[in-house]
Amino acid sequence: MSKSQSNFVCQSCGDVSHKWAGQCGSCNQWNTIIEERVSVAPPASGAKGAALPRGRSARLVDLKGESPAPPRILSGIGELDRVTGGGLVPGSAVLIGGDPGIGKSTLLLQALAALGAVGERVIYVTGEESIAQIRLRAARLGLANAPVLLAAETNVSDILATLNEGDMPSVVVIDSVQTLWSPVIESAPGTVSQLKAGAEALVRFAKSKGACVLLVGHVTKDGQIAGPKVIEHLVDTVLYFEGDRGHQFRILRAVKNRFGPTDEIGVFEMSDGGLREVTNPSRLFMGEGERQAPGTAVFAGVEGTRPLLVEIQALVSPSALGTPRRTAVGWDGTRLAMILAVLEARAGVLLANHDVYLNVAGGLRLKETAADLAVAAALLSSLSDTIIPHGTVVFGEIALSGAVRPVGQTEARLKEAQKLGLTHAVVAGFADKAFKPSLETRQLETVADLVAWVASRNKGLRRIA
Ligand code: TYD
Ligand code: MG
Repeated sequence: MSKSQSNFVCQSCGDVSHKWAGQCGSCNQWNTIIEERVSVAPPASGAKGAALPRGRSARLVDLKGESPAPPRILSGIGELDRVTGGGLVPGSAVLIGGDPGIGKSTLLLQALAALGAVGERVIYVTGEESIAQIRLRAARLGLANAPVLLAAETNVSDILATLNEGDMPSVVVIDSVQTLWSPVIESAPGTVSQLKAGAEALVRFAKSKGACVLLVGHVTKDGQIAGPKVIEHLVDTVLYFEGDRGHQFRILRAVKNRFGPTDEIGVFEMSDGGLREVTNPSRLFMGEGERQAPGTAVFAGVEGTRPLLVEIQALVSPSALGTPRRTAVGWDGTRLAMILAVLEARAGVLLANHDVYLNVAGGLRLKETAADLAVAAALLSSLSDTIIPHGTVVFGEIALSGAVRPVGQTEARLKEAQKLGLTHAVVAGFADKAFKPSLETRQLETVADLVAWVASRNKGLRRIA
């Protein structure tokens, strides 16, 4: 007979402990630990620390050998195919995480409709919305006649029975894993145990039957529902759908991919007809070239394999506060503090009495240190009321010494800038002296050079240092 035992599980990171605590010792989140009851099977008959059964030896092979590339199912949505590394892989499990309401269901319904249209058998299992709601959404997206099979089901056993009936589907969407409910687990739906059990069963189904299973997981803010993080290790690919709900831009980002590169992004735009691919995202994040104002600089970033031009905006204004405000949206606040300190210490730019606001256009989040130089340029531009000339792209890393360092993929960044009609670049010196840039470039060695360059564009309105 099995007996049940209580575990205290953090709903944020999945850490298990034997007693309740207000704060999780593993991820430091508050109020995320809840009690879950699990059934423990008794050890095999009469065994005292039962011995493992005798195993079969596995065949050892050489590392060298043939490995055919996995087949791919192309969704027909180019940005989605790019992020998955060239299409969905049969027999794989993909987790798609994101904030509630960001557009996961919309994206997956569009993807299934596209796949259904090319003759794949696709199934959408909804646990959150009713069939009527899904039909309404499909009608709004203009996909009412798409050959997508629907089921409203949350019981894992019933879902598996449904999927195993008839022809094997090639792609299955489970929306969402947090609604999955397995009858053999005692805890409530949405808890870590339920989430893991449900996801495990579906991943096993994908592997054994060769279907591609897409699991939707809501990123949760409080600890009542377990987050998608706890099942990331179970799946082959983890994609996160990000974006600011105030903006219509959405970014699909690969954070783990056993079949392709990570850090690849797909860019979408949420419209009243659903998500539209943005094939030329630079245009979107660069802002309107004509509205050139002091405090903006164009940065050439690289997301995955793709260069991306982004407008960086800064506002530097005299502060009335004892401790001036420093706010960064879309960039690391600590890095901003560092740039301000370097400008002050190495180039004599006094910012201690100024409020500083930094914003990355379009709701994009930048992680590259290559943006340092563009951030510094935007700050100086705002401080001195100088317009960075239209058509100039800026990138480079700033060291604490004040040196401007070259960054990777310089050529790709310059090419993208050229493609979008930019004509000038302000960058670090090229590591390869023989490199002939396609744009007119100004190469800087230190932040003091940057200050001098901005000052040289200044029409004498305000002095920098
Ligand atoms: P949804 O796909 O339901 O989000 P998720 O599954 O991640 O929770 O998207 C919900 C939001 O998208 C909703 O607030 C409305 C908006 N939306 C549009 O703007 N246009 C559309 O065509 C659709 C279907 C949704
Ligand atoms: Mg949804």
